[in-house]
Amino acid sequence: MGDKKHTLTLTDNATGKAIELPVRYGTEGPPAVDIGPLYRDFGYFTYDPGFVSTGSCRSAITFIDGDQGVLLYRGYPIEQLAEKSTFLEVAYLLLYGELPSQDQLDGFTNVIVRHTMINESLKSFYQGFYHDAHPMATMVGVVGSLSAFYHDSTDIRNPQHREIAAHRLIAKMPTIAGASYKHSIGEPFVYPKNSLSYAGNFLRMMFAVPSEEYVVDPVAEKALDLIFILHADHEQNASTSTVRLAGSSGANPFACIASGIAALWGPAHGGANEAVLRMLAQIGDVKHIPQYLAKAKDKNDPFRLMGFGHRVYKNYDPRARIIRKMCHEVLEKVGDQHDPLFELALRLEELALKDDYFIERKLYPNVDFYSGLIYKALGIPTNMFTVMFAIARTVGWVAQWMEMIGEPDQKIGRPRQIYDGPAARDYLPIRRRKSAPHGAGTADLNGEARNTD
Ligand code: SDX
Repeated sequence: MGDKKHTLTLTDNATGKAIELPVRYGTEGPPAVDIGPLYRDFGYFTYDPGFVSTGSCRSAITFIDGDQGVLLYRGYPIEQLAEKSTFLEVAYLLLYGELPSQDQLDGFTNVIVRHTMINESLKSFYQGFYHDAHPMATMVGVVGSLSAFYHDSTDIRNPQHREIAAHRLIAKMPTIAGASYKHSIGEPFVYPKNSLSYAGNFLRMMFAVPSEEYVVDPVAEKALDLIFILHADHEQNASTSTVRLAGSSGANPFACIASGIAALWGPAHGGANEAVLRMLAQIGDVKHIPQYLAKAKDKNDPFRLMGFGHRVYKNYDPRARIIRKMCHEVLEKVGDQHDPLFELALRLEELALKDDYFIERKLYPNVDFYSGLIYKALGIPTNMFTVMFAIARTVGWVAQWMEMIGEPDQKIGRPRQIYDGPAARDYLPIRRRKSAPHGAGTADLNGEARNTD
């Protein structure tokens, strides 16, 4: 797409040999040098831990301009979708590439609604978990187990199977999440009620009890639908890259999404929303902020300012801006508008954004900084925060997986490495071995980090 005849020449100063590498262009964003021929024609690998400068694929789904704080879903600015769209309409857009007509949206909604139930025998699956199992742990297990039930949608080379699996995953995530929560509090599961909206159905499966009528709060329903829109997709983040890599081996879609849930759980990624609330509770009072900012800046202190910083955004995360504004509205209507944690978050943000350490490193609040405060105001417990992220991101994971599987030149992902281990050596009979310290380059028994270059 837009590839002009442009190359980059790489010269090996040791041999004087040079290689010309093609430059690839997309619709938006920086050009990329195609290093595919590098090892075959020039004998070198590239090295980019964390893929800071490395593109893993071409994609037409989402675009981020980290310097400008821009986020587009299929070209539409997140601010406009947040204001005018709904989560299921955004799901259609991400999956199929265009905003749906009313008929298309009605048809899509009807399909999703028809797949919200889970196999009844999954209820006994939940009984195998301790009641205090983290809901993200049950989500990984239950979603991964779906391939044991749906043999009719795991032929990934069949586009109809891919579409059925996509619809099932999007439809069932709220039901699985609601059941994970109910299991953790010892309450009976609540079946989906298909006359409700996607967000409304989820709220009911979380909070309804058999002994009372449950009425969905429209403020909570709208806030949740908006939060789902904001979390739906985000280019090749860690969990999406995990889903793509798992899918590149031909693994079934349920296993791929389970791998995405597992990757999302990390506190550096989707687990940050839960970590932000725990951090705010740990800071406790505005007067403690300076000491925690000092900890965040201290290289010898593992403390990080959770909800701050981003690999791509070197400006305000546009989602954080939208959520921050919504926080005020939600706390005013359903939560405690004087929630001390919200006041603390506002003050922490204000002081961090004035601090040279954060300014120099372009560290701004990200999507996770405020989302937990809204979840808390909606009565969602902290250990369900990342589950909320997983419900929404399933749409992006599925869209990215479908795009990857549908690529004509799709191949298994298999990165290379720089080898730091011992050179080839012969086996030593045990009688001739001495007790040697654990090898350099490995984590020793007390988990010290491996040596680096
Ligand atoms: C998400 O990729 C995505 O798109 C993710 C996501 C999505 O929608 O999928 O947007 C969702 O995961 C948001 C991020 C949530 N995580 C957190 O809020 C955890 C706290 N943030 C950091 O762990 C960190 O900022 C990362 C992991 C988000 C980004 O890490 P990078 O890009 O590897 O940056 P880095 O660690 O190299 O940091 C650069 C510098 C370092 O200092 P120096 O070595 O240059 O002196 O900034 C410092 C870091 O120490 N730094 C922080 C910091 N984040 C970075 N210092 C204190 N507190 C922080 N939060």
